Amino acid sequence: MAKQSTIRTPIVCVMGHVDHGKTSLLDRIRGSSVVSTEEGAITQHIGATLVPIDAITRMGGALSKVSVNVPGLLFIDTPGHHAFTTLRARGGALADMAIVVVDINEGFRPQTIEALQILRNYKTPFVIAANKIDRIPGWRVQGNQPFLKTFAQQNERVQGMLETKVYELVGKLSDLGFNSERFDRVSDFARNICIVPTSALTGEGLPDILMVLIGLAQRYMTESLKVSAEGPGAGTVLEVKEERGLGMTLDVILYDGNLKVGDEIVVAGNDQIIETKVRSLLKPRPMSEILIEERFERVKSVTAAAGIKVAAPKLDGVIAGSPLQAVRGGNRDEVIERVRHEVQDIEVNLSDVGVIIRADTIGALEALSKELEGHQIQVMRATVGPVTRHDVIEAGTIKDPLYSAIIAFNTPVLPDAIDALVDTSMSHVSIFEGGVIYQLIDDYVEWRDEKKQ
Ligand code: GTP
Ligand code: MG
Repeated sequence: MAKQSTIRTPIVCVMGHVDHGKTSLLDRIRGSSVVSTEEGAITQHIGATLVPIDAITRMGGALSKVSVNVPGLLFIDTPGHHAFTTLRARGGALADMAIVVVDINEGFRPQTIEALQILRNYKTPFVIAANKIDRIPGWRVQGNQPFLKTFAQQNERVQGMLETKVYELVGKLSDLGFNSERFDRVSDFARNICIVPTSALTGEGLPDILMVLIGLAQRYMTESLKVSAEGPGAGTVLEVKEERGLGMTLDVILYDGNLKVGDEIVVAGNDQIIETKVRSLLKPRPMSEILIEERFERVKSVTAAAGIKVAAPKLDGVIAGSPLQAVRGGNRDEVIERVRHEVQDIEVNLSDVGVIIRADTIGALEALSKELEGHQIQVMRATVGPVTRHDVIEAGTIKDPLYSAIIAFNTPVLPDAIDALVDTSMSHVSIFEGGVIYQLIDDYVEWRDEKKQ
């Protein structure tokens, strides 16, 4: 029987440096749309916000000119790039698109650059929100207006200042190998990155950023967004959390099919595949009902794309970033194999001689290894989890001393690993720890180049 395919909601990750306005941008999008009926209402999901197409149309912008066939946008916002790298699907990034938020007055900061490098490595389309335009001295606020309308109301000096700042961003993007332009001057989305000046505080430029995202989605990804709404659910585990009264739960972003209470599901644990059964599916209650005792509303089923909390037995040990697959119609073995494959199938090319890398999640490990590959730095072993004593000894006995290093991204170094370093025989091993990939790489390269001399 041929499956009915529909176009699912694209998943958009919001990325950028701390405090540049990621959360505010989403809050403002939620707040700007006054909604009276259920139909077309912006809804809060687990780890995500769903903005239906009607809500986007209501906000205006140049959207009316674009023929729309995507049902809306599902935004994911978590601090840092955690969400982007954790959320994997079929060995690639789960997010279909991204917004990189940059404070137009501060320009690029370390995490902005990191976000861009990750997006480049995964070939994920994105748009830049040049945020906080209301902070440009002399700015006259035109609340919620599309950018060109508000820009026309500014005096020449303010307009000039905004242009200068936008061109600074264009220059920085060019250093990283991206062509970009202010969005209203871009005619070919495939060749130029759009920069949309915005204010998350006043809502200016928000209609435009939504319009650009919809435009990107319908021009470049309607094929990849075709899913079967009837099929067994497939998703990625964003977080594993204990909830009072529910026990261990999974926050899941569902990207294909549907998930029902009672479904058999397969997820990956630390060292084994876990099979269990969905006991409940939970959605957060609307904001207005936040004081109600029950924070979650129980639903019987959910269709992609959506963020949902899954309660089930036996969830201890499930890893963030694990695939979640529903089993339906006797394909259990096949599903288990697929999940196992997806967890093991990290795209890292290992060499006999190279650095040892560690990260907190599979996706983070993959992001780090892609960047190392770009720098022609060989990797000998790539594993999830903290740095162990064994890692230190292994790094210390490697033939080429330029690779006697461990790179630990977002993951701690265990005390006995530090003890091992102190052992005189391993004191030549260096451990590089941190939460920004390119800084880790810079530190390693500096250390290596010093050793070379
Ligand atoms: P993290 O989640 O910590 O990485 O930060 P974030 O990027 O989510 O930033 P957030 O939205 O929390 O905003 C940080 C601060 O900047 C808050 O005090 C916001 O009110 C302020 N802010 C965000 N956007 C704007 C803007 O467009 N204009 C002005 N004036 N302030 C803004
Ligand atoms: Mg935030």
